[in-house]
Amino acid sequence: GQRFRPQNCSVIYGIPNCRFTTDHSWHMEADAIIVHHKDVSSRPRRLLPGARVPAQRWIWFNLESPSHSPNLRAMNNLFNLTMSYRRDSDIFSPYGELQVLEQPQPFSIPPKSKLVAWVVSNWQTRSRRVKYYQELKRHITVDIYGRNHQPLARDRLLPTLAQYKFYLAFENSQHEDYITEKVWRNALSAGTVPVVLGPPRDNYERFLPPDAFIHVDDFASARDLARYLLELSEDAERYKRYFEWRQWLKPVVVSGWAVRLCQVCRFLQTETRYQVVAKLSKWFL
Ligand SMILES: *[C@@H]1O[C@H](CO)[C@@H](O)[C@H](O)[C@H]1NC(C)=O
Ligand SMILES: *[C@@H]1O[C@H](CO)[C@@H](O)[C@H](O)[C@H]1NC(C)=O
Repeated sequence: GQRFRPQNCSVIYGIPNCRFTTDHSWHMEADAIIVHHKDVSSRPRRLLPGARVPAQRWIWFNLESPSHSPNLRAMNNLFNLTMSYRRDSDIFSPYGELQVLEQPQPFSIPPKSKLVAWVVSNWQTRSRRVKYYQELKRHITVDIYGRNHQPLARDRLLPTLAQYKFYLAFENSQHEDYITEKVWRNALSAGTVPVVLGPPRDNYERFLPPDAFIHVDDFASARDLARYLLELSEDAERYKRYFEWRQWLKPVVVSGWAVRLCQVCRFLQTETRYQVVAKLSKWFL
């Protein structure tokens, strides 16, 4: 349902000869068709092709977690390539990534005057993250922004969160590799320390250095976590250690649909893979 303009991939990625259209009358000519799961999942039968060009690749594109991806079974035996935040997708399209700096650069921590923040719009009382928060807030003050809480305009997001020492990067559901903009943008781009709730620590460590975040699983209880955060907030030297990696590595948020389209084009130009993703529903769950 969101509108955007495809970009020139030569300019943003150095990849020539990419052409995109939303005009479905091109479907017999196209080298590939990208299908965004969220936009078709309520009416998957509309996807069933009449005639289908044999060499044309169909790409299943999804950035939501399995918990929020209905009707996966209708996607079986239709697609040739997958594109998602999962590392084992054909086209790996994460929410963020680290760039290695050519020269180490000192990172300056934004001035801190506040303790813990959380931005949440999808408030599900029975979700793991809300239950965890309910326990945590008994032991430490947490400022909450978002729908039904303190409002926070988009252009105030980063400057507001930058004032906090810690950010609760709590995912809406727990799945392998499902590490979203909550970590990459809200916490890391803002220059605060993410406290993560999501997949296990070793999964986060495939994306980030171990000392870039605090994992709720590192503590026996929310009370222990609160105690640790309070201690750390009083210990400037120790707090600084959570930023040392940033001399070498720069976190980058991958955002915008246009960039992801260019990732598809790059893949199609460099890899020729002939395959059918038969059991997509089984793989993605
Ligand atoms: C995209 O950018 C390249 C390099 O700047 C340019 O040569 C090309 O004409 C542009 N293509 C379109 C469709 O604008
Ligand atoms: C893509 O998948 C379809 C549907 O399963 C299959 O018929 C077709 O041969 C596959 N094409 C390629 C290029 O792998």
